[in-house]
Amino acid sequence: MIGRLNHVAIAVPDLAAATRMYRDVLGAKVSEPLPVPEHGVTVVFVNLPNTKVELLHPLGEKSPIAGFLEKNTSGGIHHVCYEVDDILAARDKLVKEGARVLGDGQPKIGAHGKPVLFLHPKDFCGTLVEIEQV
Ligand code: CO
Repeated sequence: MIGRLNHVAIAVPDLAAATRMYRDVLGAKVSEPLPVPEHGVTVVFVNLPNTKVELLHPLGEKSPIAGFLEKNTSGGIHHVCYEVDDILAARDKLVKEGARVLGDGQPKIGAHGKPVLFLHPKDFCGTLVEIEQV
């Protein structure tokens, strides 16, 4: 059901420092910071030949990654995102198999303008999983 790895999201306490690390030390192509207020984050996209890394920094009062950064003060992998062809069919199969979909179960428009859902980390080896319809 899942297809390509769309991105790995890394929560970072210092977005400028993380961007410099990826751009100047690792030699990757990085985007300008993109505020995504509806998701409570500012994102820098690191474009790799086969996938993307997203550097996430909290934006606003109730950012979903603020608590994560309190626990992981140096930052850390926040979620992985897998592509699916049909997000509603994927959701229905996941729910049928007993996986927990976060929120109200309705896809939201993600940072790439595509519908996404998040799956409970306890059902997926301790890793928050995002699925994105492409
Ligand atoms: Co994501």
